[in-house]
Amino acid sequence: MAFIEWTDKNKVNIEEVDDQHRQLFAILNRLHSSVVEGKEQGELFSILDELIEYTVYHFQTEEKLYIEHAFPGYEDHKFEHDKLTGTAVELQTKLRNGSATLSFELLDFLHDWLMDHTLGLDQEMGPFMNERGVF
Ligand SMILES: [Fe+2]
Ligand SMILES: [Fe+2]
Repeated sequence: MAFIEWTDKNKVNIEEVDDQHRQLFAILNRLHSSVVEGKEQGELFSILDELIEYTVYHFQTEEKLYIEHAFPGYEDHKFEHDKLTGTAVELQTKLRNGSATLSFELLDFLHDWLMDHTLGLDQEMGPFMNERGVF
């Protein structure tokens, strides 16, 4: 069983967004396996960097969609994205200067935010965009 499992519940019914979410799940699963396998720190950090970079790219994709279609929840959603990006960058710094370690606790944290992100706020965009012909 994968560390973070994709199910239909995670879908928001917008192909581009669902593809990116699946990609994020895959990167997190890769990070988890690498920790389990005891891969060296450099490798773990580079997967984490990839996860963060792809997250930032993904947030930009969602925000572009929101602006394009005048989604009323844009401000709240953007606020959540910015907060998460801030936490991620802080984490990256702490790991690099040794004041945090890439633990299972941290992996659980990433698991939960990705789940919350796809099952929470992101779910609002599906019906709204679908009504406007975006799938
Ligand atoms: Fe998302
Ligand atoms: Fe989002």
